[in-house]
Amino acid sequence: EETTAKRKDAHLDLCATGDVEPGQNSTLLECVKLVHCAMPEMAVEDVDLSTDFLGKRLRAPLLITGMTGGTERAAQVNRDLATLAERHGLAFGVGSQRAMGEAPERASTFQVRDVAPTMALLGNIGLYQAAQMGVDGVRRLAEAIGADAMALHLNAGQELTQPEGDRDFRGGYAVVEGLVRAFGERLMVKETGCGIGPEVARRLKELGVRNLDVSGLGGTSWVRVEQLRASGQLAELGSEYSSWGIPTAAATVTVRRAVGSEVKLVASGGVRTGLEVAKVLALGADLGGMALPLFRAQQAGGLEGAEKALQLILAGLKQAFVLTGSRSCAELRRKPVVMMGELKDWLAAL
Ligand code: FNR
Repeated sequence: EETTAKRKDAHLDLCATGDVEPGQNSTLLECVKLVHCAMPEMAVEDVDLSTDFLGKRLRAPLLITGMTGGTERAAQVNRDLATLAERHGLAFGVGSQRAMGEAPERASTFQVRDVAPTMALLGNIGLYQAAQMGVDGVRRLAEAIGADAMALHLNAGQELTQPEGDRDFRGGYAVVEGLVRAFGERLMVKETGCGIGPEVARRLKELGVRNLDVSGLGGTSWVRVEQLRASGQLAELGSEYSSWGIPTAAATVTVRRAVGSEVKLVASGGVRTGLEVAKVLALGADLGGMALPLFRAQQAGGLEGAEKALQLILAGLKQAFVLTGSRSCAELRRKPVVMMGELKDWLAAL
């Protein structure tokens, strides 16, 4: 049980200051252009960013994706970012609740309902931990924090770079099937920076999954995080694979095409600005998702640091709505999008 907490602390340190976003990686959002409207005929205050998610009405299409819990430092991150999400009507996820299953006294580090009573809240557990604890165990994790839904994370790339990581990835769809029976529309399946592609998305939808977060390549790389902690062969493999994954822009377009409109689609992984949130919405996502930028802002400046970072993101997002002449998320979704370069290669193959 100590190893999980220690590993999480090392992860937070690396994510706070380390080189965890390999410079050669890209979301391919630079291959996406929205089209300027010279005569918007609207005011900034006419922009309505609201959207439905997990049975709640968000005031902006943004999810702060699951990061942490289990230690005192992690508890502060959760409380600050949940406070921010409640204040601005965003959705928020805690990090892997594995530590909570192992040591129930750590539960308090995942509790945010006192500061965020109405916010859309996601619990979090890894696919293989979910298999081990069973459906009832996962349900207890969700109930213990008053979550609206549970996020199940996929991270095969990271596991293969961890000395203590999983090496057997069989039986994953069966686990998802059991969780769908228990959680229904209150289940989300997410990646952690290597992306979900259209084939996997289609199978998950057939099993009844109604919320997906592609979490594609181009932002935080968990293979890189593990590479920085590894030595010997694993460090070599981490370096070899730290650019592995489906870029966020390619995952967003192809997953939306594969699953149609019944699935709520979050696009995260290297989304860094309001304009980039607008781009993923125009590509077909219902929400943009962000982890690292808000974590870093919180680490550097606490709640008010994160508040400033978020205000810039929301201002950039509104500006994209005005400059494309879009009053709502639905209107932005219908606007033309230019897709260029390498993104077109991905779309031709997928
Ligand atoms: C993460 N991420 C993550 N995901 C998950 O499902 N469970 C977890 O416990 C964690 N832990 C975690 C810690 C920290 C510090 C970071 C930065 C990220 C992954 C996260 O939710 C997201 O999928 C990726 O980080 C990609 O988004 P960004 O960081 O590029 O915006």
